[in-house]
Amino acid sequence: MSVKRALIVGIMALAAVVAVCGGVIRGAQAQLSLTPHAGAAPAAQSGEKTAEQQFKNIQVLKGVPADQIFPTMQFIAASLGVQCEFCHVSGELEKDDKKPKQTARKMMEMMIAINADDFDRHREVTCYTCHRGNSKPVAIPPVMTEEAMASMAAPHKPEDANKTKSATSPLPTAEQLLDKYVQAVGGAAAIDKVTSRVMKGTIDVGGKSLPIDIYCKDPEKRISFTHMPEGENITAFNGREGWLGVPGRPLREMHGSDLDGAALDADLHLATHLKQMFTGTNVVGTEKIGEHETYELVGQRDGRPPIQLYFDEHSGLLVRLVRFGETALGWLPTQIEYADYRDAGGVKIPYQWTLARTNGRFTIQIAEVKENVPVDDAKFVKPAPEPPKGRAK
Ligand code: HEC
Ligand code: HEC
Repeated sequence: MSVKRALIVGIMALAAVVAVCGGVIRGAQAQLSLTPHAGAAPAAQSGEKTAEQQFKNIQVLKGVPADQIFPTMQFIAASLGVQCEFCHVSGELEKDDKKPKQTARKMMEMMIAINADDFDRHREVTCYTCHRGNSKPVAIPPVMTEEAMASMAAPHKPEDANKTKSATSPLPTAEQLLDKYVQAVGGAAAIDKVTSRVMKGTIDVGGKSLPIDIYCKDPEKRISFTHMPEGENITAFNGREGWLGVPGRPLREMHGSDLDGAALDADLHLATHLKQMFTGTNVVGTEKIGEHETYELVGQRDGRPPIQLYFDEHSGLLVRLVRFGETALGWLPTQIEYADYRDAGGVKIPYQWTLARTNGRFTIQIAEVKENVPVDDAKFVKPAPEPPKGRAK
């Protein structure tokens, strides 16, 4: 498999539930400090392939679900700000010819040991903690810049002083925020009445603007068609399975965290489902996002990374959602920012959203929405995978 191909597969092959088990990776399994409770990570599910069963040369990441290898590699690449080729020989990913790959193995062991020994097995330190997007971490603090000097001299803005509001303006409760959101969208009854939604618009990605059609149907079915000159780019979820279609390439299945994310995106009643989805909630503070003053809520879920939600202080609408994909070494974030809320048949929906990951971003702008129109179930039937044509290259 070429590295480029592997990268594309990797982007899609996001991993299943938190499922790191056994041996040397033990120390890496606890959660980032973002999760307040020191959760126990579930063991790899029986029947699930481990990394060493699927790949040729796994020495450290043993016991990790095979599905987590590509997301883990993406996590490493994003942490160091490098491409796969920094460590890998193109097309022969199992080879150990490059020095950085050997160093990376030692670094994994170091990271696991630090967390096990010094952080009570919580995954507090990751590759990113030290590397911050550089292959060589910076060890020396910088000298004062002119801008930093100027901002120190500037009058102190109280709202910047602290992420958490002072005692004079107590934070709302999670329940209040979630209720206000449901109200802001149009109320539970109006939300539950939505059974389908068909949207037409454009997707802006990499400086190009392409037409996109999106079909959603309750429960949790969603398919989008991006019309490219060479054919249709498809992202689909049918309630259980997800797949991606790119012209001229075999269909690719979604795994793990990608399915989790797809289910969230496909939920027409997400606003009313949030409360039951979370096993615990914390309102952690305030944050300014563009023009919006927001409250940040972290929702915990069973056996999956939490979700961060940012609600506008005034309108109560959801401005940003951040979800995480589990990997063997840390969480991979996906951030969606919602804007241009408008009424669509009794409920308010964002006509614009921007989805950003560590390796890319796109913006969708909707021009036309139809609610509760018939959508054929046949749209959500997964095509049979094509038989492999010789060796994948
Ligand atoms: C900083 C170094 C580094 C980078 C960057 C990196 N990898 Fe890796 N990769 C490793 C190491 C180390 C292993 C072996 C892990 C082990 O022994 O447990 C590995 C193993 C793999 C394997 C298993 C190969 C086999 O058959 O044994 C695949 C597949 C892989 N990487 C894909 C990728 C992809 C795709 C990217 C880019 C998104 C990438 N890697 C980026 C260090 C890296
Ligand atoms: C505790 C801090 C720390 C953590 C955590 C850490 N690194 Fe490093 N890493 C370093 C330092 C410091 C260097 C540079 C050493 C040098 O300059 O010789 C380095 C160097 C490297 C290099 C060699 C870079 C080059 O240019 O050759 C690789 C590859 C690497 N780290 C990968 C990783 C990976 C993958 C992880 C996570 C599993 C990780 N590191 C976690 C501190 C860290």
